[in-house]
Amino acid sequence: MKVDLLLGLQWGDEGKGKIVDFLTKDYDIIARFQGGPNAGHTLEFDGIKHVLHTIPSGIFHKNSMNLIGNGVVIDPVIFQKEIEKLEPFNIDFKSSLCISRKAHLILPTHRLLDAASELSKGKSKIGSTLKGIGPTYMDKTGRNGIRIGDIELEDWLVKYRKLANKHESMIKNYNVNLQYNLEELEGDFFDAIENLKKITFIDSENYIFNKLDEGKNILAEGAQGSLLDIDFGTYPYVTSSNTTAAGACTGLGVPPNKIKEVFGIFKAYTTRVGSGPFPTELFDKNAERMSKIGNEVGATTGRARRCGWLDLVALKYAVKINGVTKLMMMKGDVLSGFKSIKVCTEYNYNGTVINHFPFTVDTKNLKPVYTEFEGWKEDISKIKEEKLLPKTFMNYVSFLEDELKVPISIISVGPDRTQTIIR
Ligand code: GDP
Ligand code: IMO
Ligand code: MG
Repeated sequence: MKVDLLLGLQWGDEGKGKIVDFLTKDYDIIARFQGGPNAGHTLEFDGIKHVLHTIPSGIFHKNSMNLIGNGVVIDPVIFQKEIEKLEPFNIDFKSSLCISRKAHLILPTHRLLDAASELSKGKSKIGSTLKGIGPTYMDKTGRNGIRIGDIELEDWLVKYRKLANKHESMIKNYNVNLQYNLEELEGDFFDAIENLKKITFIDSENYIFNKLDEGKNILAEGAQGSLLDIDFGTYPYVTSSNTTAAGACTGLGVPPNKIKEVFGIFKAYTTRVGSGPFPTELFDKNAERMSKIGNEVGATTGRARRCGWLDLVALKYAVKINGVTKLMMMKGDVLSGFKSIKVCTEYNYNGTVINHFPFTVDTKNLKPVYTEFEGWKEDISKIKEEKLLPKTFMNYVSFLEDELKVPISIISVGPDRTQTIIR
């Protein structure tokens, strides 16, 4: 009986979906604990690529339950599209997917509020995915939200209308040029609500207590990344939930002393999509190469991801905050063929060398200090065993392990399920 966590250590898109799918065979339950359809988790196997937004990444395995926890926010319209896309794969959703009654609903007006807020910010916009995440969590913490369990109750439409009306007046207050047809959006929304009701709703914390008592194993799947955490990320350029380990406790009702392993997943370089500081960001040929070979395009929004070298200062911070016990390094294959590879080991902050992640990550005053490594020429994407990996690649891996003081237990060398080396 145990709960293990898997979460991203950078600004998201580290490859969480791929690894959750890879690990699912060892777990009875896969549980998403925060975020919503701002996430895009990619899985590849049997020549097919799947992108999941709200549904946990264990869904393709027959013997595990996939739980959408209370900490998640759900857009029924996006959820329905996700379910429809999975139709050809003969998944029995009745036995393999359930939703916490305490998860919050994203309303059409939450999405509109997100758009209005971003428009009003102009150049300083967050670069939100515009899925209504911020406004939905605001209503949750403001104690105005509507939860999945509410739609089973008779008076929920009254509650809905009251909240939607309030949102409309808030949208007006933004005084921005936002065109919308709420009636149309509501049509889709209420159709999707009917479909959502076909999924099993549960009191998920209770379900988890019982499963742990029965000796079952749970893998909690994080969304986004530690540097997008509402408390510890590059605020305000963050998402609106706790993406770090503590979020799994509140987002599922799992007590901290039940958590065993914390799997921290990172790319061999860094990417970020949306606005906000990124100390090791590159604007040169190296960035172009990472972007092209790594296919660095957002799985949810299709936006180009910004690229740069690995930032060890930020990574050490994320390892500490999450209490990572095992690391997983993704996309090392993308760095094949680079003459040299750099890693940021310290920051120079207005002439002073610092090695912690500061309050203000102001890239005007903060410059990365790099250590340089010899690159490797070999294509590593077909390698199945650690001992066959190039020496220069393993030098990079050993350096990172020494610095981070946590073992790298999985090396991923390609997007497919089979391109995964266990150490
Ligand atoms: P997530 O949000 O953390 O699940 O990550 P995304 O799915 O948004 O982005 C990761 C992208 O990298 C996806 O397109 C994956 O298919 C791909 N990917 C995952 N691991 C590897 C790897 O080791 N090498 C390469 N080349 N691609 C990978
Ligand atoms: P996965 O789970 C990468 C980013 C957005 C934006 C900021 C706030 O696939 O790793 P929001 O829509 O949450 O208000 O956006 O966070 N962002 C992500 N970036 N991967 C994600 O999820 C992200 N989810 C949100 O681009 O900068
Ligand atoms: Mg993603």
